[in-house]
Amino acid sequence: MKRILITGATGQIGSELTIVLRRTYGEANVIAAGHRRQPDADLLESGPYCTIDVRDAESLQQTVREYGIDTIFHLASVLSAVAEQKPQLAWEINMGGLHKVLEAARQFRCAVFFPSSIGAFGPGTPLENTPQVTVQRPNTIYGITKLAGELLCDYYHHRFDVDIRGLRLPGLISYKTLPGGGTTDYAVEIFYAALTEGRYRCFLKADTRLDMMYMPDAIRAVMILMEADGKKLIHRNAYNVTAMNFTPEELAAQICRSISGFAIDYDVDPIRQAIADSWPRYMDDSTARAEWGWKPHYDLVGMTREMLARLAVMLAKPKEDDHAPR
Ligand code: SER
Repeated sequence: MKRILITGATGQIGSELTIVLRRTYGEANVIAAGHRRQPDADLLESGPYCTIDVRDAESLQQTVREYGIDTIFHLASVLSAVAEQKPQLAWEINMGGLHKVLEAARQFRCAVFFPSSIGAFGPGTPLENTPQVTVQRPNTIYGITKLAGELLCDYYHHRFDVDIRGLRLPGLISYKTLPGGGTTDYAVEIFYAALTEGRYRCFLKADTRLDMMYMPDAIRAVMILMEADGKKLIHRNAYNVTAMNFTPEELAAQICRSISGFAIDYDVDPIRQAIADSWPRYMDDSTARAEWGWKPHYDLVGMTREMLARLAVMLAKPKEDDHAPR
């Protein structure tokens, strides 16, 4: 990787991955692209930034040509809950955007990273210890775009020899940038609420178990996969990866150990609950461990400790572009 383009650079993964990629490959070699004209200062100040709508093939290709891009991290995507509200938009961005990125990659011989998701599974999938290769019949538009995305990536790899690699990411937990409109967002919101209100109203049922990962592990997974020997990647699009699984009740109990008196109650959103119920409780990620050495560093205890400590510091010093939930 020498010249990198990141779509969705202002999003939850992008805002952190961009900084790590710039540190690793040189600031000038990592072009951050988002749909926002005015991204956060650390993204703007640490290297090149451009505005791209991933549905616009021409501007995508022009950017790839202009900057001599050889690797695209394609992170622009509509998350599951918003996708259910706006299915047409989700299809255009998630599928249309991916297709345009793959076309640019084919024409300009770029490698691609594609984030699939636990959402690519659905009813009919074994939801406990979900295998790498199994039934995938998602019934959400988000899941459909992620599964179709995996297949399209496979197609471009086999048909056009494009080097594409992907992960089925679980819910991601981070303190720097909020996720926008996902089903696993509760696991981030709860930390803000714990520190500011001492209580949290959860939109999923107390016993809803889902796979999760702390962002530094997710960033490491992306970096390791993209640097791995391509010849060893049999299941390249896309690998099950996970770090922990828990329920809202278990996460609240863990937070309570640091913030005594923290209280959780429940006001279940039937749409997000139905989405969560169709996703794995926990995945088997042994294929990723065997093929490219995946191993998470953070479990529930370590992640909770870090989130509370780092978020407390961040909330104590609000910046102009405050990340707190609005
Ligand atoms: N975190 C995502 C969502 O909830 C799942 O990939 O939509």
